[in-house]
Amino acid sequence: MCGIVGYTGTQDAAPILLDGLKKLEYRGYDSAGIAVMDHNIISVNKVKGRIVSLSEKTSDGASVPGTTGIGHTRWATHGAPTEENAHPHLSNDGRFAIVHNGIIENYMALREELLGDGYVFQSETDTEVIVHLLEMYYRGNVRDALIRTANRLQGSYALGVICSEEPGSIYAVREKSPLILGLGIDENFFASDVTALVNHTRNVIYLEDGEFAELTCDAIRVFDVTGREIIKTPSRILWDVQAAEKGGYEHFMLKEIMEQPAAVKATIAPRIREGEVVFDELKDGPAVISGVRKIIITACGSAYYAGCAGKYALEKLTRIPVEVVLASELRYSDPLIDKDTLVIVISQSGETADTIAAMRECSERGARTLAVVNVVGSTVANIADYTVYTWAGPEIAVATTKGYTTQVTVLYMLSVYFGRALGLIGEDQEKEMTDTLQQLPRLIQQSIDLNPAIPSLAKKYHDSKALFFIGRNTDYAVALEGALKMKEISYLHAEAYAAGELKHGTIALIEEHQPVIALCCNPSIMEKTLSNIVEVKSRGAEVLALTFRNNQKILSVADDLLFIPDVESLFSAVTEIVPLQLLAYHVAKENGCDIDKPKNLAKSVTVE
Ligand code: G6P
Repeated sequence: MCGIVGYTGTQDAAPILLDGLKKLEYRGYDSAGIAVMDHNIISVNKVKGRIVSLSEKTSDGASVPGTTGIGHTRWATHGAPTEENAHPHLSNDGRFAIVHNGIIENYMALREELLGDGYVFQSETDTEVIVHLLEMYYRGNVRDALIRTANRLQGSYALGVICSEEPGSIYAVREKSPLILGLGIDENFFASDVTALVNHTRNVIYLEDGEFAELTCDAIRVFDVTGREIIKTPSRILWDVQAAEKGGYEHFMLKEIMEQPAAVKATIAPRIREGEVVFDELKDGPAVISGVRKIIITACGSAYYAGCAGKYALEKLTRIPVEVVLASELRYSDPLIDKDTLVIVISQSGETADTIAAMRECSERGARTLAVVNVVGSTVANIADYTVYTWAGPEIAVATTKGYTTQVTVLYMLSVYFGRALGLIGEDQEKEMTDTLQQLPRLIQQSIDLNPAIPSLAKKYHDSKALFFIGRNTDYAVALEGALKMKEISYLHAEAYAAGELKHGTIALIEEHQPVIALCCNPSIMEKTLSNIVEVKSRGAEVLALTFRNNQKILSVADDLLFIPDVESLFSAVTEIVPLQLLAYHVAKENGCDIDKPKNLAKSVTVE
């Protein structure tokens, strides 16, 4: 998720590196750094925080002379977002500087080995082993040292390397992390994506896994793991700068919707081992739940709705009462909270003011706090007693999508984990549930693939005066988030109602052709929701139902359909929300709205 950039040419490198890093900032922005080579001297500048601080520190690059360099913007995985952990990292002899995007899976073993050989580590990162390996293998030829180093690495890496013995050269290596070379005139570049290159050149070479590149100002040479040279054909970038930033998608929101299978997978994969849910990050392990008599979930916006969706699994599997409370309400409610309360705080950004305040209020009353948060090193993550990260990656569109699905996913995993810890779930049951959880990324992808009709449904519904979303139980929780998505980006009046409540007032609003979006994904209460659909239909409503493909009963009464794949309803919210996100997206598009930056909203709400 980090961004890397490299430059060699006849101009000053630092301003070009800083400009490239700004373009890559969406990939990560907790710390940043550049290493610039002036003749044989490498100078490194790093900051904790944004690129703007790095620009300030280096007077927009003017204070760092040299025409060759590498840069990095970080989204921390191994090691806190500190200046020490920021890239570039230097070898002990000062000869090499490197930047890295990816994860070195065998770094612990390598670190032990290098420590044994006397190498001194300055950071907690997995990356630092690479630079010490380079020093160890260097015998006067950088390419050979790189190949020998790469042979020792397991995991994913896009690397940028400079060596003080070779002023004017930059090296790049790719293995399962993106890396693109840019061909200029009297200058050459590499970067994690084309965003950072298009201001300088549109001629690029896409490196493949296992390829190494040596760049000087007038040549690019690519070679394989045996050192054999490979002839690569350059491609021409046709995208405009903005499109490149969005990876080819028209909007960040659409890109992020499509990234959900991968984001949920990244959130689940490290935490399920041999049929068990494991949370290595919970320092007290399963004891987190011991003695807990009440669970409170608190959050704002979609994170609150994620809590509403997760409550069902949490209550069912732990048999502990769960209350979901808006953070802005909780903080002033004189809440009944004590040391036997576990407060789960959910926040994508980790910086939402009300959420932080509610969390502090709960801590002061003696509760333990567990944060489910996406941004590494954020305030919520830092002040919680326990922190579980959603590995959704940076989310740029203001309306959250992959943030929400990964939050719900973590709540599912916590439910199973706590249920097992409390002795309410046996080994076999846990195995069955973890099997289902591991299927979720694939099922989310199916939720995308099963609904090609959404753009035309959006044309039908985009100019409605209002949209009502109805559902029961988990379907109701998802309806709340579905309606919020619609409001946020399309500006249509959209409200969610518990289907059983319709006849206590809302049904008065139903008239001829009023669209009602009915969520029917919970078999145990399907008949009940079906009755509500019939009730609104007999008053003239147009029903768009969200259900399973083979659900004949619903298929025969609804006017239009959205589908999800077959999935255990306790864990179905993450598949149900996806067609509703896409519907909101396409309705907003029909209405010509600014989808990524809706009016009056902000991604991170740091004021009360
Ligand atoms: C803003 C965002 C929402 C988000 C909410 C809570 O309103 O637009 O997408 O759900 O804040 O943000 P958090 O970062 O705490 O999850």
